[in-house]
Amino acid sequence: MMDGYLWARALHVISFISWMAGLLYLPRLYVYHCRQAPGSEASETFKVMERRLLRAIMNPAMIATFVFGGILIWYLGSEAWTMGWLHAKLALVVAMAVIHGYLAKWRKDFAADRNQRSETFYRVINEVPTILMIAIVILAVLKPF
Ligand code: HEM
Repeated sequence: MMDGYLWARALHVISFISWMAGLLYLPRLYVYHCRQAPGSEASETFKVMERRLLRAIMNPAMIATFVFGGILIWYLGSEAWTMGWLHAKLALVVAMAVIHGYLAKWRKDFAADRNQRSETFYRVINEVPTILMIAIVILAVLKPF
């Protein structure tokens, strides 16, 4: 039982690190993609990088984070639902998933050469997953309430 719980925790940590890597890198690609002329060779290269990052890394990593997180809740049992830190954490994780959804939507805009948002917009967006991650990790490790 303990082995299973520790494996789930290890795979949970591996999954959210991979998800976070994509959430921090994709908006940064958008910042530099904004500088490229639509149809240019550089813009077409960014499209390939963005598509592969989202589909091959971020989507599977997000699903794995949720699956192993869910398994960990199962191990904690029904009392998990009385834990304030988990409620707050899951609310922030939903916000993280919403950002993931918007990044996927904006990728389609770049792929269709119809991005209207500025470099500054994506620089600001780049900070949001970082702030969410800091709060989520503090809640999950310190369990302050
Ligand atoms: C739906 C998504 C998620 C669920 C259901 C979930 C649930 C959990 C649960 C139940 C634990 C175990 C707590 C314990 O036994 O001590 C845990 C640990 C943890 N989670 Fe999540 N989590 C999710 C997403 C995330 C995300 C997105 C991050 C980071 C950005 C994250 C970071 C952590 C950390 C740092 C730990 C502590 C690991 C350790 O002490 O070994 N989780 N999570």
